[in-house]
Amino acid sequence: MSDLVKNINVFADHCGFPARRIFDDLFTLLFSHICTGKKEYQHLYPAVSYDPRTVQPLEGYRDADRDELMQLLVMLTAELDNAAPFEDVVTDKYGTLLQGDLGQFMTPTALSNAVRGFLEFTRESGNKRAEPTCGTGALVMGDLRQTYAVGGKDAVSHVDYSINDLDQRLVRIATVQVMYHSIRHEAPLKRLVAHNADLIRNYDSSPPFFAATSWRGVLPGQII
Ligand SMILES: C[S@@+](CC[C@H](N)C(=O)[O-])C[C@H]1O[C@@H](n2cnc3c(N)ncnc32)[C@H](O)[C@@H]1O
Repeated sequence: MSDLVKNINVFADHCGFPARRIFDDLFTLLFSHICTGKKEYQHLYPAVSYDPRTVQPLEGYRDADRDELMQLLVMLTAELDNAAPFEDVVTDKYGTLLQGDLGQFMTPTALSNAVRGFLEFTRESGNKRAEPTCGTGALVMGDLRQTYAVGGKDAVSHVDYSINDLDQRLVRIATVQVMYHSIRHEAPLKRLVAHNADLIRNYDSSPPFFAATSWRGVLPGQII
């Protein structure tokens, strides 16, 4: 078990919240930071929009617990910072916290990397891509990792990704994963659009809760 997950479990025991909730809350903080700090990366993504209802302060933590939560956030960001471009260092950790609710389980990172390797072999991937049940983004990250490894930043800059999950906690994690790596490694996608819709009931009627568009996406094709 990773040190981060161990420390989250210890914190969960004494603050009284489930470990999964704490993990989700760390990503709520990172998501809020990405949304409200968009000026810091507007050289990569000149157009960023988000639903303000998805950026909420965390409720329920005692003051004394907030310091510890910040220490966990520092641990998490260190892991994200030390990862290779688009390496998914989140999903396997999150998978250990899932209890099978909603039939949720995430594809192990090794498998998602292998799936993308197979797609590369069959040359099936275009630049308009979608993951309608993205979870924490295992397959998306495997895909982008491979895209970056094979074609570098230029290949990533052509990718227009639409991601969705019924569970906002999960699609928020996927959004943070993609955006964090993209910003950190200065490798903007053409566009990332994130939905939180039920594919069966309202797949085409729910507006995105987050969208980030790079210069390649903002300017018309004749110019770039
Ligand atoms: C088995 S998990 C796989 C997640 C991810 N694709 C992966 O490979 O790690 C299935 C995902 O589908 C989502 N899901 C289930 N029913 C859905 C629906 N009707 N609309 C959108 N997402 C749904 C769940 O929340 C869960 O995250």
